[in-house]
Amino acid sequence: MFNFEKFIDDCKKAVLSDQPQAQIKVLMEDAFSDPKALQQALEDASPGKSVAPLYSDENLTILRVATPANFISPIHNHLMWAMIGILEGEEKNYLYRRTSDGGVEVEQEVTLKPETGIFTLRADAIHAIETPPGQAMCGLHVYGGNILERSSRSAWNPETMEELPYNFDQIMTFAKKLSAERAAAG
Ligand SMILES: [Fe+2]
Repeated sequence: MFNFEKFIDDCKKAVLSDQPQAQIKVLMEDAFSDPKALQQALEDASPGKSVAPLYSDENLTILRVATPANFISPIHNHLMWAMIGILEGEEKNYLYRRTSDGGVEVEQEVTLKPETGIFTLRADAIHAIETPPGQAMCGLHVYGGNILERSSRSAWNPETMEELPYNFDQIMTFAKKLSAERAAAG
């Protein structure tokens, strides 16, 4: 049976080990082996919140991330590695690379689902996510640092593609606009 307190303690030890990403991946795979128990534990820990920090210190952040159907995020970075597991629905990831003229372009598209397992985002990753119409997404994210307080992160204005200092409220404003535009386009 999944024990959330033990999961947090194990993750805290894992991030301080020689192979933090490999160890966190094993812990997440173990947690996802009983998805119903994990889902229940996440809901108990963060009832009703779409993005809920479940644990955070300078080396580690554990987040429950839930998005509605038809959600589109602007492009952004994290500046730390992240492990993503999906419990319900799916999350399409667009992975970007920087171009020589100072912009960004899509390098890879990956659709994450419960059956695709734990996905690793590199520390230098730049990405945007979207969820399909008609299907909400719920997942667990583990980051190799304090994502809630990391400075120097960027987000890209979806209209101008200008790189901007990351601001969560602005991200959500961009996301609402992108999602509304796609809903209107059908
Ligand atoms: Fe992200």
